[in-house]
Amino acid sequence: MQELDAAAAGTILIGADLDDALEVSRLGFGAMRLTGPGIWDYPDDVESALGLLRRLPDLGVTFIDTADSYGPDVSEELIAEALHPYDDLVIATKGGLVRTGPDEWIPLGRPEYLIQQALKSCRTLGVDTLDLWQLHRIDPRVPRDEQFDAIRRLYDDEVMTHVGLSEVSVEDIEAAQEYFPVATVQNRFNLVDRTSEEVLRYCEREGIVFIPWYPLAAGDLAKPGSLLDDIARRHEATPGQIALAWLLAASPMTLPIPGTSSLKHLEENVAAAAIMLDEEEIAALDKAGREQFERARR
Ligand SMILES: NC(=O)c1ccc[n+]([C@@H]2O[C@H](COP(=O)([O-])OP(=O)(O)OC[C@H]3O[C@@H](n4cnc5c(N)ncnc54)[C@H](OP(=O)(O)O)[C@@H]3O)[C@@H](O)[C@H]2O)c1
Repeated sequence: MQELDAAAAGTILIGADLDDALEVSRLGFGAMRLTGPGIWDYPDDVESALGLLRRLPDLGVTFIDTADSYGPDVSEELIAEALHPYDDLVIATKGGLVRTGPDEWIPLGRPEYLIQQALKSCRTLGVDTLDLWQLHRIDPRVPRDEQFDAIRRLYDDEVMTHVGLSEVSVEDIEAAQEYFPVATVQNRFNLVDRTSEEVLRYCEREGIVFIPWYPLAAGDLAKPGSLLDDIARRHEATPGQIALAWLLAASPMTLPIPGTSSLKHLEENVAAAAIMLDEEEIAALDKAGREQFERARR
């Protein structure tokens, strides 16, 4: 029987150098997949989504990632219904994308919109101050400094305790640091997608928590028939569990947030927290994953 406690992977501090640092489980949960198809509207089975969310504290998962645009609003509403007043949970949300229909995502970084959405997330989640608010995308049509300035105003007004960024470069992070402390960066990263490797190394040096989204390559790394098979067999684990164990071992600053709408998959993902890969396995996975990434880029 595998251990079902995210605490097996230890904890990580968000905003370690700041007041009000938040200690969370190093394996979190991504709540994007709890909505209807195309990340739109309510799921068919709302009760099962609420049940899955209520299971998270029992499994030791204390970090939940969401966004105002998931549904839109649906993911935040379900989290509030299932888990408010949150106790020891940290709820991280995001703003800066508008939705015009299923699978349609449009950046919108006008200052008044960012302010409206952060305040709306407070209301939807039922809190005065958000634990962590992340800019979902820098809107290329709005001067970056105007977006950062709006966030600084929200931060100064204590609308959020910590600020994060998503899909950014090192240069973006440095520019944002002129306005507010950047506590987290959420970029796409997994065993076979190393596009953000330089950003991850920067985050390690700066003490910024790096939240790799797509940790399972949207489920592809959970399927058999990949470079993960041999090591998975050795650990009597699934390929997805090894992909998550590798992400946890790849850097002390990673906080993976696998997403699922299935309780069985959630439990399987949490069990990955207890899998300890040895140095040789970590290096072999790193090499094979990097080679696959380089081949795909050619
Ligand atoms: N910042 C951003 O721009 C951004 C973008 C995308 C996502 N995110 C965040 O990152 C989180 C994770 O990303 P993601 O959900 O797109 O990708 P992911 O975690 O890599 O993969 C999720 C997919 O994998 C499947 N899955 C999960 N666990 C599994 C398991 N044990 N066995 C087999 N299949 C499994 C899920 O299907 P089932 O439901 O069937 O389990 C789902 O379709 C999201 O929930 C969201 O919070 C952020």
